[in-house]
Amino acid sequence: MARKTLIAGNWKMNGLLADGVDLAKGINTAVKSKGKWNCEFLVCPPFTLLTSVKKALRGAKVALGAQDCHFAEKGAHTGDISPVMLKEIGCSYVILGHSERRADHGESNELINKKAVAAHQQGLKTIICIGETEAERDAGKTINVCTLQIAGSVPDDATAADTVIAYEPVWAIGTGKTPTAKDVEEVHAAVRKALAKKIGKGNANKMRILYGGSVKPGNAKEFLSLPDVDGALIGGASLKVADFLGIAENAGC
Ligand code: 13P
Repeated sequence: MARKTLIAGNWKMNGLLADGVDLAKGINTAVKSKGKWNCEFLVCPPFTLLTSVKKALRGAKVALGAQDCHFAEKGAHTGDISPVMLKEIGCSYVILGHSERRADHGESNELINKKAVAAHQQGLKTIICIGETEAERDAGKTINVCTLQIAGSVPDDATAADTVIAYEPVWAIGTGKTPTAKDVEEVHAAVRKALAKKIGKGNANKMRILYGGSVKPGNAKEFLSLPDVDGALIGGASLKVADFLGIAENAGC
């Protein structure tokens, strides 16, 4: 089965109501205007915008995702949002273990795994993020770090239907710096190998592995044409309709 390219926008902590609705409407119009795309689109706004963005996307083939969730269904977890709450308001995806959450909130592989299990139980698809820091890269530990993150944060029963992996080198996020295409291909191939060990070769071969970290319309083709790169998780460039759609166009979608 061919892996369908996923073009996903992670809006991070950006956008007040009017901006978010404008952006979603712009994406909706642009996606509809072409009609047939060869990829799947996803936007992941902050929690506060999910309901309004869902409305603004009505009729478009753009999925809605959140940027995190708790592992519990409900209860005494001040400030947290549960998978069942996300499902109720129309999310089909949730990003888990983004490096900014790993760094800002000390999220461990174990916690991310637990969240992914809970999200899958509610029928949400997860995008589990991995990636090395600059220091780890300089120490030649990239493959090792990513392999350990896959082993720890991906649930044992994850399948290609409920899980997507995003490889995001921490040093490439929001910096304009990117690895070479050869580096990306090498890491993605290693990630697929680590997945095969964890969930079996059949599942691993069907699972999408996105690249993230300073993806722009200008480098989309270079990265997204690599054999083991099945889409992009886009930060900054996903906040502009032309850039987000430009990435999809240039990736051959
Ligand atoms: P940038 O595209 O802004 O580098 O962010 C990447 C990212 O962190 C997406 O999750």
